[in-house]
Amino acid sequence: MSVAINVGVLLLLLVVACNAETSRYRRKLEASEDMPFDSDVFRAPPGYNSPQQVHITQGDHDGKGLIVSWVTPSDAGSSAVRFGVEEKKLDQVAIGKVLRYKYCNYTSGFIHHCTLKELKHNTMYFYEIGDGNSTRKFHFITPPNVGPDVRYTFGIIGDLGQTFDSNRTLQHYQSNPVGQTVLYVGDLSYADHYHLHDNRRWDSWGRFVERVAAYQPWIWTAGNHELDFLPEHAEPFPFKPFMSRYPTPYKVSMSTSPLWYSIKRGPAYIIVLSSYSAYGTYTPQYEWLLQELPKVNRSETPWLIVLVHSPWYNSYEYHFMEGETMRVMFEAWLVAYKVDIVFSGHVHAYERSVIHFLLLLIPAFI
Ligand SMILES: [Fe+2]
Repeated sequence: MSVAINVGVLLLLLVVACNAETSRYRRKLEASEDMPFDSDVFRAPPGYNSPQQVHITQGDHDGKGLIVSWVTPSDAGSSAVRFGVEEKKLDQVAIGKVLRYKYCNYTSGFIHHCTLKELKHNTMYFYEIGDGNSTRKFHFITPPNVGPDVRYTFGIIGDLGQTFDSNRTLQHYQSNPVGQTVLYVGDLSYADHYHLHDNRRWDSWGRFVERVAAYQPWIWTAGNHELDFLPEHAEPFPFKPFMSRYPTPYKVSMSTSPLWYSIKRGPAYIIVLSSYSAYGTYTPQYEWLLQELPKVNRSETPWLIVLVHSPWYNSYEYHFMEGETMRVMFEAWLVAYKVDIVFSGHVHAYERSVIHFLLLLIPAFI
């Protein structure tokens, strides 16, 4: 079966094994305001230079690697992650890298990314970051071995933002503890709603989602609110804040860009595409997807899932037809390779489509 689902700000739980469950949760229709900077959900942790905005994502192709990211506000400190399977015995260390970026009149804190490798499958790990009296400790569970007969539950979130309703959405996700990994279908902080894309809103968003994103991986898809394209203010390089803050394991799937890549997780093969990068014939994303789809071994990963921000099927007026050119380029491939589900965001409304393929084959001799 081929199904496309447009998630918007709604949130679903997808059980990839034998049955599926969707949420009855609905947000109200009216737009919601951003929470003020002094909201408790944005509060920085106590202590000098304490790590904040902690989040994790898959760090390799099959779930034995994990990237830990965080920000230290005042100085670089250490980029080390101390980790282990016993909370009181963190006997392994990985050393990461630190970067900063400037955006208009904003300079970021010290952004750390550290990859943990060769983890054991299906195991709880504890990890600690920070220095001196300002260390912080978290934990995560690695996925089972990649294979067809394992059960795994994904949460689906998109277009989260940082409004009062965003907080209700995150609370809702936390209230149902079955989600093991979030498939995030784009549009993170909406910092670009502000003058000069006030990047302090990227920081507040990082602090906001930490309560989930530090404990289970979020698989990132770029949306239009990640573009941050402001050439008139000397910011001509799209995706600069997003790519500085939210790394992806793109190289392990032979991608040349963090914006499109694939991972395997449990019984699922997940392909992430970028609606706002070139995808026409001969472009890097086009060539990558062309090479990528034949690599999927359905006897190993029977579930083939695609994440892309702008939906290819959308019957709402809002953002109508914006995904159409990408549909024209790639829909036939996804049908040919029997993709099970496409998750999209962008429209802020729920819609589910069954197979819907419109390619007309007209014999040349007619
Ligand atoms: Fe969007």
